[in-house]
Amino acid sequence: MSRNPEKDIPRLLLEWYRTNKRALPWRKTKDPYRIWVAEIMLQQTRVDTVIPYYERFLNQFPTVDALARARLDTVLKAWEGLGYYTRARHLHEAAGIVARQLGGKVPDDLDGLRALPGVGAYTGGAILSIAFGKRTAAVDGNVIRVIARLFAIEDPVDGSRTKKRIGEIAARLVPVSGPGHYNQALMDLGSGVCTPRNPDCPSCPLSAACKARKQGIQESIPEKKRPAALPRREAVAALVRNDRGEILLVKRPDRGLLGGLWRFPGGILQEGEAPAAGLRRVLREELGLKGTAGKELFSVEHGYSHFSVTVRVLPVAIRGPVPHAGRSVQWNGVGTRGFSRLAVSRLERKILAALRSLRPAGKPIEDGKATPKRVK
Ligand code: ADE
Repeated sequence: MSRNPEKDIPRLLLEWYRTNKRALPWRKTKDPYRIWVAEIMLQQTRVDTVIPYYERFLNQFPTVDALARARLDTVLKAWEGLGYYTRARHLHEAAGIVARQLGGKVPDDLDGLRALPGVGAYTGGAILSIAFGKRTAAVDGNVIRVIARLFAIEDPVDGSRTKKRIGEIAARLVPVSGPGHYNQALMDLGSGVCTPRNPDCPSCPLSAACKARKQGIQESIPEKKRPAALPRREAVAALVRNDRGEILLVKRPDRGLLGGLWRFPGGILQEGEAPAAGLRRVLREELGLKGTAGKELFSVEHGYSHFSVTVRVLPVAIRGPVPHAGRSVQWNGVGTRGFSRLAVSRLERKILAALRSLRPAGKPIEDGKATPKRVK
C-alpha cells in the first residue's frame, strides 16, 4: 500500500477481478449491441434473473437490425416477466434509431449514447467503458456504497452535494487501462463483498484502503434520507366472460406504465368509490359496456416502484352484446394456452394464478360464490 491508498485502488481491484470475476454471458462479447442489451436488462433486475432472458433475447434478436425489424409486441413478449417494460419499448425504439439513422452502429460517445431512449448516465458509462474501452465511470447504487465506505462519507448519499462528490471520486478512480473491467469489478465487489448488510471485509481487496473499515463504521454507511412511504391505491379488475367461458382482456396503450401489455379491464378507484360502482364506471368509460358486478372473488396485492396497489377482482355480467376480439380486445381461456400468446404483466399473472386456484378442474368460476381471499 502506498502513502496515498487511493492510488492503489484501481490496481488492487483489477488484480482481484482477474481471479474473482463472475462468468457472465455479456462478459464473453465485445459486441456493443449485446453489451447494450445486457446493461438495459441489468438496470432494474438482478444478474441471476437477467441471464436466461438475455440469452433468449439475443437468440431471438441477434443483431440491432433484427431487433429494429421486430414488432413491439414480439419484443414485449420476450421481455415478459422482467418487469419495467418501458425499458423494452425504449430499447426497441433505440434499435430503430441505430439501424435506420446511424448505419447500424451503436454510438461510441456519451452524448450519442445518451441521446438513445433508455440510456442514462450509468448505462452510457457502462457501455462506453465495457464495449469501447473508454475511461468513463458507471455510478449506480453499488458503486455509491463502495465509494462512500472507502472514503468514509457519512452524509446522506442521496443529497445532491454528496452525490456530486461521489461522482467526482468515481470518475477520478477509473483507470485508463481496462476501464470496463474496472467498472465491472466494482459491480462485483458491490454485489458480493461490499454488500449493504454484513460486508465481507476480510475478503475485500480494498480493505486496507477503506476509511470506513478503519473507523469500524462500514455498516452504518451509506446513510440515506428517510424514504417517504409509498402511496397506496385501491383498484378493481373485471372478470368478464363470453358464452364460451373465455375471459376478456384489453391492451394498454403503447405509452405509459406497462404500455403495450394486456390486462383485465378495470382501473383505480376514485376516492370513496365502492368497487362495484368503480367497475361499472371504468367499463363504461373504457369499453362503452354496461354491466352488473357480482361479489368480490379475491384481491391481489402488488407493488410498483412508485406505489402499491390492492386490486379487487369481481365478476361482471355484461348487458347487451360483448365486444369482438380485435387489436385491443381479446378473449382467452383461463388455461395457459390462450394467455401464453399475449404479453401480460406480473400483476395479471397473479390474478390468473388466483383464478386458476379458485377453479375446481374443468369448472368455470361461479360468479360471486367464491370466498374472497387475499393474494400477496
Ligand atoms: N450490473 C450492471 N451492469 C453489470 C455488469 N456488466 N455486470 C454485472 N452486473 C452489472
